[in-house]
Amino acid sequence: MQDKILQFLRKNQGYISGEDISSKLNITRAAVWKNIDQLRSEGYEIIAVPHLGYQLISTPDILIDREIKYKLGTQFLGKRFLCYDTVESTMEGAFHLGLNNAPEGTVICAEGQTKGKGRQGRRWTSPKGKGIYVSIILRPKISILDVPKLTLLTAVSICETIRRSTNLDVKIKWPNDLLIGNKKVAGILTELGAETDNVLFIILGIGINVNSSASQLPANSTSLKLELSQEISRVELLKEILRDLEKWYSNINKQGFQKVTKRWAELSSTLNKKIKIDGAEGKAIGIDEHGGLKIRNDKGQLITKMTGDVVQA
Ligand code: BTN
Repeated sequence: MQDKILQFLRKNQGYISGEDISSKLNITRAAVWKNIDQLRSEGYEIIAVPHLGYQLISTPDILIDREIKYKLGTQFLGKRFLCYDTVESTMEGAFHLGLNNAPEGTVICAEGQTKGKGRQGRRWTSPKGKGIYVSIILRPKISILDVPKLTLLTAVSICETIRRSTNLDVKIKWPNDLLIGNKKVAGILTELGAETDNVLFIILGIGINVNSSASQLPANSTSLKLELSQEISRVELLKEILRDLEKWYSNINKQGFQKVTKRWAELSSTLNKKIKIDGAEGKAIGIDEHGGLKIRNDKGQLITKMTGDVVQA
């Protein structure tokens, strides 16, 4: 019922009387009032003016199904949206759902995580209500060898979304970090459900520091709020992320990964730099056909790394 009342309030920019709502939804005026009160307790700002009725002033910035799905407009990404208050890690639930045939595009989201997982056994700091912490189930028809390219695709897509939404100069540090200057603002963790060499599903774990303060983040990190000196809507940002990601992902069926690799090169903070990565040192010269990083060392040898931590040499 709350969804229906909200729909009414959203359709009417001005006031709508309790009587109108009650007659259209066939409920008593007391029931209208009770539901509106419930919406208010969830963070919806709804005013009531005698003789005029109710008006929706603002909606809460919480990552709930109702808000994410409103005018989302995607074909499959986020059609099934499961949101939790606090979990250890959204990756666990997503993996379980992946094994249990959850449809492609299912999104698992939490307001906070107590054991957020980063790459290579690290933790992802996930203060409640401050970031975007989602795991997305995909079922791509690609070879296991090409899975790293999906991480690159996700990095390109999210980088584009944040750049467009905030005008910040966000760059991609290979393979999965989004940086502003040399501070990390977002990260991607890709996990794979596979059977021999067959990809069953992929979990894309995305963490973005949106409205976190410096004291809530690790030392080498930043948030969009810290960079912009103002809060931004997590709901709107997540919707844009899902829309863009769906476009990039759908495009690989039509054009392969060529467009991803090209855009990655433009957005990369790694390419053409002298770097060190897990014992190797040289100049990052590009991405190989599976998403690995190609490095040319001082002896002119070509080294390809599929994973690792890049540092500037
Ligand atoms: C990294 O940069 O090391 C990857 C960070 C990935 C964090 C996200 S937050 C949502 C999802 N759940 C997790 O526990 N981790 C990923």
